[in-house]
Amino acid sequence: MEYKLKNRPRRLRSSKNIRNMVRETRVSTDSLIYPFFVTDGKNIKEEISSMPGQYRWSLDRLPELLQKLRESDIKNILLFGIPNEKDEVGSSAWKENGIIQRALKLIKKEFDGFYCITDVCMCEYTSHGHCGILSGESIDNDKTLEIISKIALSHAKAGADMVAPSDMMDGRIGAIRDTLDKNSFTNIPIMSYSVKYSSGFYGPFREAADSAPAFGDRKTYQMDFHNSREALIEAKLDDIEGADILMVKPGMAYLDILTKIKEKTDKPVALYSVSGEYSMIKAGASLGYIDERSIIGESAVCMFRAGADILITYYAAEIAELIKNGEIG
Ligand code: PBG
Repeated sequence: MEYKLKNRPRRLRSSKNIRNMVRETRVSTDSLIYPFFVTDGKNIKEEISSMPGQYRWSLDRLPELLQKLRESDIKNILLFGIPNEKDEVGSSAWKENGIIQRALKLIKKEFDGFYCITDVCMCEYTSHGHCGILSGESIDNDKTLEIISKIALSHAKAGADMVAPSDMMDGRIGAIRDTLDKNSFTNIPIMSYSVKYSSGFYGPFREAADSAPAFGDRKTYQMDFHNSREALIEAKLDDIEGADILMVKPGMAYLDILTKIKEKTDKPVALYSVSGEYSMIKAGASLGYIDERSIIGESAVCMFRAGADILITYYAAEIAELIKNGEIG
């Protein structure tokens, strides 16, 4: 039987060489950012129970992690701080000798070559676990701007290469840009968590950072996951206010949002594949239901394919290894 098919898409899948030649998505370790937690205290390398393989690090133990990241060729890091003191206004977040500030100084002094990005938020530092200043049971947007700007400035002073505000207050990018510029940090970029949804996928992170809100939830500031046009408003506002990179968060279940934002902006777009995504893959793999390596590679590539220029992921080292071995790339 003879078929007269002119188009046979399988021709371009017939060998590894030709498949690699026609690949539409290329991934690089340069585009990865590894997030991790630094904590006050000594001799701490404590595994986060809902995120096997991820740890809280005290500064004296941090060189072990940085060494490992170097070996994996991971150059970009995102720091979260776990302070030993919390109060109503999160004042340990902008202390000159706070946990993030000390971590930055240490990394810059002893581990040259890392590009250090800091999460700018209050929830890890407030006794109530909210990302802003309370007024009764609600969050006062404009009072929070002042504090968020102060935190960003203290990070820049301590040596941050980039700041990443995640609080979702209105106007924070403009406020931070203003404060940084007034203090001669005109060249420090802002990566904004522009499109951050109120999400159950942050559960393991909140355990890791001990930052769950003591009452209520974050729905009055983080976005409602039923909405997608609203994401364009958030991204546009941040763009106008001077954000250098726009971020979408979470990742996996929000790739439609990422693609939409990418079509509308000319700025780089980052995607944050969050703690719950990591934990789901870990849990599924540990039960033997899925193959961890293949799922890590596939999901990373799919996130880039959907439009990510930058991927923030707890699996950065594993993805780097897959790229190096030619399993993805
Ligand atoms: C701080 C912050 C959170 C995450 C990043 N920055 C938690 C939250 O908003 O509750 C989540 C990251 C993750 O889940 O991996 N506001």
